[in-house]
Amino acid sequence: MAQKAVDMYNKDDSSFYPKPIGTSAVKPNNRIDYHTHANFLKMLNGEGLNNLFKRWHVSFCRRLEALQIGTGWIGGQDLEDFWTMHLTAALNEAMSGPVLERVNANFTRDFVDYLPYVHKLMMGLPKWTMPRAYALRDSLIRDVKTWHNLARENFHQSEVEKDGGADRWWGLATMRERQEILKEVDDWDQDSIACSDFGLLWGANVNVHTAAIWMIIEIFRDPDLLIRVRSELDTMTESPENHCRWIEKLMELPLLQSIYAEVLRLRVDVQTVFRNNLDDIRVNEWVFPKKSLLLVPTRPAHRDEDYWNTRHGRYPLDRFWSDRFLAYAGDAESGPSKHNNRRQETIKHELVISKAKPKFITAGTSDSWIPYGVGDRACPGRFFAQREIVAFCAIMVQNFEIELPSLSTEEHVLNNDVFYGLGVQRPKAVMPFRIRRLQRPQ
Ligand code: HEM
Repeated sequence: MAQKAVDMYNKDDSSFYPKPIGTSAVKPNNRIDYHTHANFLKMLNGEGLNNLFKRWHVSFCRRLEALQIGTGWIGGQDLEDFWTMHLTAALNEAMSGPVLERVNANFTRDFVDYLPYVHKLMMGLPKWTMPRAYALRDSLIRDVKTWHNLARENFHQSEVEKDGGADRWWGLATMRERQEILKEVDDWDQDSIACSDFGLLWGANVNVHTAAIWMIIEIFRDPDLLIRVRSELDTMTESPENHCRWIEKLMELPLLQSIYAEVLRLRVDVQTVFRNNLDDIRVNEWVFPKKSLLLVPTRPAHRDEDYWNTRHGRYPLDRFWSDRFLAYAGDAESGPSKHNNRRQETIKHELVISKAKPKFITAGTSDSWIPYGVGDRACPGRFFAQREIVAFCAIMVQNFEIELPSLSTEEHVLNNDVFYGLGVQRPKAVMPFRIRRLQRPQ
């Protein structure tokens, strides 16, 4: 992005809240942070969230169908790459419509190949040290620009779909609205807008698919857990064709939710950035002067021995334990926290009275489970991320058998710390796999 466009971000000291802070002289059209953040909230909450989830679900299921996986085993060399490709293509199509793949048939391949370069690019290493990273980035941004040009030339209001949520040129209505916001910013041109949309697509894709894939790795490598998840899913009566009702019901299944939360506890290593230009920041007994940059890493919180329940060391915090977030009736030692905070206790008491099934608990974890950051600035995509991760897992478990022959020891499922600090860590080992459609008694 051209420096003068970047400078507009740096000059925007008006905050991302609707009301600009008192001292800011930034013109309303240049309040980039506020306008883009408000647009994210619209895209990723409420009706926007339903709209995006439905479009992702339709696109992913269509791509899955096209793979024609039958009841005979087929194999692949790299589980992560295989599913990342299809999940990425589906999310990009759900957000930005079908044009990008037509502009460049290799768009998804290039995009997925580009994802791991971010650390090096953030270090500002020169082009000659990683020509491929720069070449990929340039060509992807060119593709986004071509998409934008085609959409500008061809879009007509009459092509907006009946539900108002999208059109075939811009994709989501909120993506179209972003154009209106960004073209008003001083010193921004079509290149800057293309860079910004590419950044959004990158941010949307970079973490969520890896988390979804970790979830199926953990389930399919443990035959007992697979049986438990399948029988929990068998209680579902809602049809996947009712996309939003189906996902809402899925999100009520306690074991599935516990696995989701545990995957993010174990696999996310992110540094949340805090800064306050107006006031000092106070954390317990420390005071950081205003404008200090504070980096809060997730790992110490996610692996805090003083907080998390390990059942007296049986389930260490550097290992996956599917039931960490479940409270069981009559089991005083269940639940995520070892301290049995009051809410956790109340829930267990209610469970005893009702003899209900285990319950997924997050109460009391808000300072210790922070994969999406914290406060008003927390990831606005978290509700969609949870939906995609859980839906992908349900689709895989209910319809397929997957074998991961190389995963004989815990060593095979370690995080690749090359991504430390940036979000969901990738598996250290490349995982060959076999897959076939599940044959179930009629
Ligand atoms: C497991 C998946 C994900 C993780 C772990 C994750 C994590 C994060 C974190 C830590 C932040 C920074 C929060 C802060 O500054 O305090 C963030 C920001 C953001 N995320 Fe996510 N994210 C995920 C998925 C998604 C998805 C699927 C989307 C969109 C569809 C998304 C969109 C965004 C956006 C737009 C921001 C910037 C918001 C702003 O500053 O205005 N994220 N994410």
